[in-house]
Amino acid sequence: MKHQSSTLAVPETSAVPRHVAIIMDGNGRWATKRFLPRVAGHAKGVDAVRSIVEACAERGIEFLTLFAFSSENWRRPADEVSVLMRLFMTVLEREVGKMAANGIRLKIVGDMSRFDPKLQEMAAKAEAQTAANSRLTLTVCANYGGRWDVMQAVSKMIKDKPGHADFTEEELAPYLAMAYAPEPDLFIRTGGEQRISNFLLWQLAYSELYFTETFWPDFDAKALDLAIASYQQRERRFGRTSAQVLDQKKAS
Ligand code: IPE
Ligand code: IPE
Ligand code: MG
Repeated sequence: MKHQSSTLAVPETSAVPRHVAIIMDGNGRWATKRFLPRVAGHAKGVDAVRSIVEACAERGIEFLTLFAFSSENWRRPADEVSVLMRLFMTVLEREVGKMAANGIRLKIVGDMSRFDPKLQEMAAKAEAQTAANSRLTLTVCANYGGRWDVMQAVSKMIKDKPGHADFTEEELAPYLAMAYAPEPDLFIRTGGEQRISNFLLWQLAYSELYFTETFWPDFDAKALDLAIASYQQRERRFGRTSAQVLDQKKAS
């Protein structure tokens, strides 16, 4: 499906965001605060994922994108990285059946080639098993980086169109890893940091940004509703004036 690009046209907007993208940050600090090992925070973070996926589906959000592991997270201590990898596998093993039954379509996006072949295989199977679902598309970004995404798209585009120059935004868009989704309406980062950390750089061009101090393991349906309420207060101008936005609202 082709989606409107926020820079080429003014996209349609609605009270409930169609696409919510979240940087799930603060697992380690959640655990440290409780004198627990950091990995306990990651485990607890999985519970939050479960409840937020369901809460999003209930609210009619069509796309939920979660940043699970960045291309820079390999810099962490080897034991934390390996625990995270095992956690991904366990989650895939335990949760995919439930997702399939609950109408969730799962997509795993990122440079998967760096993962254990077993994990790659499980991810591919999980995608296949849930491919026909349409209640909510859940994208998990793993070994994902916004710059990686743009560069892999550029490389593929150039390979497909040898001898071409002066490419357009429209030509690049289908090669981006999440070409199947509209651009995020609402971006949420938990854990208090106010930065993008190489998440969806291209796609966040006109997303509304929401930052909360709440650590990811504590982020629940109520916290999600606060983020949505904040989103609903925003005037999405996409470069236009406020008067133009109001005129358009009156006309529709
Ligand atoms: C986010 O929580 C999860 C991953 C990056 C995998 P952190 O592990 O970054 O938690 P903090 O930021 O150290 O508290
Ligand atoms: C961003 O969190 C990545 C994920 C949540 C997966 P980080 O904790 O890695 O980000 P920085 O290092 O604080 O920017
Ligand atoms: Mg962090």
